[in-house]
Amino acid sequence: MKIYEIETLKTLTVNDLKRESAVTALEQVDLKEVMNMISSGKYASFDEVSIDENTPDELLQKFSKEHLHTDDEVRYFLSGNSVFDVRSASDVWIRIEVGERDFITVPKKLYHRYFAPDKKAKALRLFTGTDGWVPVYREKL
Ligand SMILES: [Fe+2]
Repeated sequence: MKIYEIETLKTLTVNDLKRESAVTALEQVDLKEVMNMISSGKYASFDEVSIDENTPDELLQKFSKEHLHTDDEVRYFLSGNSVFDVRSASDVWIRIEVGERDFITVPKKLYHRYFAPDKKAKALRLFTGTDGWVPVYREKL
């Protein structure tokens, strides 16, 4: 995992990230731990998503446009490279490059965008509720 401010390229730690944006990022998480979280009832449901060469560009463009959700966006990455940009408390973009075994929670109502630079990523999506998974865009599409 690599975390930095986009404009200054200043490297941030996981703790900096938490302080600046309230995003929780964990590295080297075992799938077993994630399954334990699910079975403990912490999340209402989960599914697996996959991005590959057949994924329509229109769909990826929806993810990469700045948006927020009314529920936390929780992802456990199984493979591939992914990028989350999140707005810090001081309105600075922070980039989080994640890969296999990284676990990230983007809190509800935090503006963010997502990219799959290699068009190759697999992740578990964990949901705390059954609704709220509708993106709210900062600008009209
Ligand atoms: Fe999102």
